[in-house]
Amino acid sequence: MKEIFRIAVDGPSGAGKSTIAKAVAAKLGIDYIDTGAMYRAVGYKLKQTGTAPEQNEKLKAVLDSTDIDFVKGDIILDGEVVNDKIRTSEMSQLASACSGIAEVREKLVEIQRRMGMRKSVIMDGRDIGTNVLKDAEYKFYLTASAEERAERRHKELLQKGENISFEEVLRDIKQRDHNDMTRKLNPLTKADDAVEIDSTGLTIDEVTQLILDKVKQQG
Ligand code: DC
Repeated sequence: MKEIFRIAVDGPSGAGKSTIAKAVAAKLGIDYIDTGAMYRAVGYKLKQTGTAPEQNEKLKAVLDSTDIDFVKGDIILDGEVVNDKIRTSEMSQLASACSGIAEVREKLVEIQRRMGMRKSVIMDGRDIGTNVLKDAEYKFYLTASAEERAERRHKELLQKGENISFEEVLRDIKQRDHNDMTRKLNPLTKADDAVEIDSTGLTIDEVTQLILDKVKQQG
């Protein structure tokens, strides 16, 4: 295994990417970078500052003054920990909307590439293996049926106290799949050299182990 290596994990919403990437990171002793959280943080900032995507000058100024980092697993937006604030269904929609804005993608991809140069990382998102870390040593594409993904997300949201039905969550997941896969800029697709894992019916531990085995196998 190289001294510095990158693992890219892509896939649709709710496929378990973050949970599994976090577990793999802990096992391998490397950093985990949640790029979805970065789009959520930008969505949050645009809402806080009342910025619409078409307000070009304002958008540029807001992005220029936006600082995003990860410290010990926390996502920090302009010095504030925003972990919980960005995990609502409203922020999911906002993140999805702002992930189609060229200026937003440009800024976040640049930060992500810089993060992937410094040390070994596992990075999850939609365009990591196809764009952000095209030359990553290991690439995975994680999927699961829309129903199973909606079920997992629904449970999570109920635990957080959100009053939302399964049907609403399923609709939201399908809408986001559509947005992510059909947007013009770096849509979600499997990289040709990514290993596809369908996690339907598998536990977190089983998928984590599959990834660890592949990494070990590949060397
Ligand atoms: O993984 P997530 O649900 O937290 O991602 C939030 C949104 O951000 C999702 O709708 C797609 C977008 N996203 C993206 O376009 N590119 C990435 N690398 C990561 C997320």
